[in-house]
Amino acid sequence: MSHQSQPVLSATGLFTPAERISNEELVASFNRYVALYNRDKAAAIAAGEIPALTESSVEFIEKASGIGSRHVVDKAGILDPAHMAPRLRERGNDELSILAEIGVAAAKDALARAGRDAADVDAVLCAASNMQRPYPAMAIEIQQALGIDGFAFDMNVACSSATFGIQTAADYVRAGHAKSVLVVNPEICSGHLNWRDRDSHFIFGDVATAILIEDKGLAPAGHWDILGTKLKTVFSNNIRNNFGFLNRAHGGIDQSGPKTDKLFVQEGRKVFKEVVPMVAAMIVDEMAKLGLEGADMRRLWLHQANTNMNRLIAQRVLGHEASDDESPTVLDTYGNTSSAGSIIAFHLHHDDMQADDTGLICSFGAGYSAGTVFVRKT
Ligand code: COA
Repeated sequence: MSHQSQPVLSATGLFTPAERISNEELVASFNRYVALYNRDKAAAIAAGEIPALTESSVEFIEKASGIGSRHVVDKAGILDPAHMAPRLRERGNDELSILAEIGVAAAKDALARAGRDAADVDAVLCAASNMQRPYPAMAIEIQQALGIDGFAFDMNVACSSATFGIQTAADYVRAGHAKSVLVVNPEICSGHLNWRDRDSHFIFGDVATAILIEDKGLAPAGHWDILGTKLKTVFSNNIRNNFGFLNRAHGGIDQSGPKTDKLFVQEGRKVFKEVVPMVAAMIVDEMAKLGLEGADMRRLWLHQANTNMNRLIAQRVLGHEASDDESPTVLDTYGNTSSAGSIIAFHLHHDDMQADDTGLICSFGAGYSAGTVFVRKT
């Protein structure tokens, strides 16, 4: 009889780009762009042919989103009002890709924290929103850079990629297809963000996280048992990015103009209204199945898109307004980092948790997609 392996979370890792843009710097550069645009197009604006652009504001950004600053891989290109996109050198095929590079850095951090040698890892999933290319898979390049013998592949479920990756990795361990799986979430969100769009220019930042999911028999002391995972998707166009082979001639980050659907676009209000109840209901449902109540939840590491959204979700789950200790935020310093957000929150805010403390890693975003991972500290 083959025994069924029990998947656990051994460790997480984080790579934070050195460069950072404050809201003040971002808004100053955006408003310079607005002034230049309105000056260049003054005749058409005066003739009523096109609308003038409106300035952004630091106060709005902080109140509407809770975002205070964001880390990025190239600050100068983003803040240049004539460019407004990261300037990233296209590397040769014999060089490590930038997305793999930051993924490897996060993966090494997770491996070191678990006391794990890369040689013990069987599989690598690169689970992220903002892939650099279709193939070869980013995951295989990361696997090669780490010297891992096994298999690797990419998966993209937008902001929920990390939790979908955790469940996929856990299923591989459970089925005996792997004993140690690295889930890597490198997110260069700045490459897909329209920095000229007032409604969303403040949202995203760049980062990489990694999660090591392993067979309990192999896991280091102090690992986290996975009590249960649940995934859900419901199609919606309210968060969308149409970049792809149909628009190769004119797509991409160099396209000018204040709005384009070849980059990230969203109906933020609709997302807010539709996703909050969907996610809150999903968490409460899952808690009931696992025999958990609000009072059993020591901490919620929620997806980091918007503090107001998280406040509402945490309130419905806990039954009271959550403290920063119960539902920590990283939006103030990282912004929205897509799939990596809830993993950064977990990574930076778990050291004080005690054996038997229960917590929830939860993601939600484009698709729509949502994932819950209930964990208990051992
Ligand atoms: N600076 C100043 N004012 C701005 C602004 C900016 N950068 N952007 C928008 N505004 C204005 C709007 O023009 C609008 O003005 P009006 O009322 O006079 O028309 C007002 O602020 C409110 O805009 P709205 O878009 O309704 O703001 P909001 O409160 O919904 O906040 C988001 C916007 C995007 C922060 C918010 O909707 C959100 O976070 N939604 C969820 C998004 C999400 O989770 N997405 C997942 C991505 S992975």
